[in-house]
Amino acid sequence: MRLTGKAIIAGVMGWPVAHSRSPMLHGFWLESYKIDGAYLPFPVHPENIETALRALPALGIAGVNVTVPHKEAALRICDTVDSTARKIGAVNTIIVEKDGSLSGSNTDAFGFMENLKSESDWRADRRPVLVVGAGGAARAVVSALAEEGVSNIRILNRTKARAEALASDFADRANACDWATLDSSLEDISLLVNTTTLGMSGQPELEIDLTALPRDAIVNDIVYVPLQTKLLQAARGRGNATVDGLGMLLHQARPGFAAWFGHEPDVTPALRNVILADLGA
Ligand code: ATR
Repeated sequence: MRLTGKAIIAGVMGWPVAHSRSPMLHGFWLESYKIDGAYLPFPVHPENIETALRALPALGIAGVNVTVPHKEAALRICDTVDSTARKIGAVNTIIVEKDGSLSGSNTDAFGFMENLKSESDWRADRRPVLVVGAGGAARAVVSALAEEGVSNIRILNRTKARAEALASDFADRANACDWATLDSSLEDISLLVNTTTLGMSGQPELEIDLTALPRDAIVNDIVYVPLQTKLLQAARGRGNATVDGLGMLLHQARPGFAAWFGHEPDVTPALRNVILADLGA
């Protein structure tokens, strides 16, 4: 699509930014919907993130995603921040408002829940949910589960202090358990989510014995390289329904695209295939 002088510009700021799939993802949608717009990678050094974000209104840019390592700085810099981003402690989507102010949000929780619901029949009920990990991704996942009404979220992390810190932010809904209780913590759960880097290519596997996992529980790995992690393979092997991590990446991009380019985008098999081909997965 050729750009005109009216083209809407958005993009992603990261350091490095070369690995980001967002330009491909948004570019796919821009082409599909024949929108006069562009979504660009902006390599922004951490020293320059505030200057770069403050320059957005002056440049007439509609907004940006921010990725590693800018998500926490963006939370501090934005003029307004939504409650989910505040709870997660990170901003990943910024909209430049008409008055030039910057509105920050975090769409990872939305992306996680939209993906889970569209790829499985999981619905919150009284059963517990087990979240493995306590990093930034876990924070988004726990926030989404709490928002969905899950009242018993078990958080297990190698470093227990981080699990405790996360659980205390969702005190009435979450509790931290010992890493050593991983296998037995599977009892009675409706959903297991791996938010750690374990199982990612080049990383160690998540060592877990699924014997105690109920047959009707869903297993969701947010790792997407490889798409079928050992955890998902083992879960499928014993008959559990599984959800891979690629959809979260795709769905988290929807709110930004809709806000900047004025079109609600769809996550389709064609989009998945384009990103999968790029991942070499
Ligand atoms: P992100 O923001 O992507 O979630 P992160 O904050 O670096 O990334 O978190 C990575 C998660 O993977 C953490 O829960 C981490 O556990 P620790 O808090 O104990 O570091 C987990 N993780 C990474 N490598 C691990 C390993 N070898 N064994 C167990 N957990 C691991």
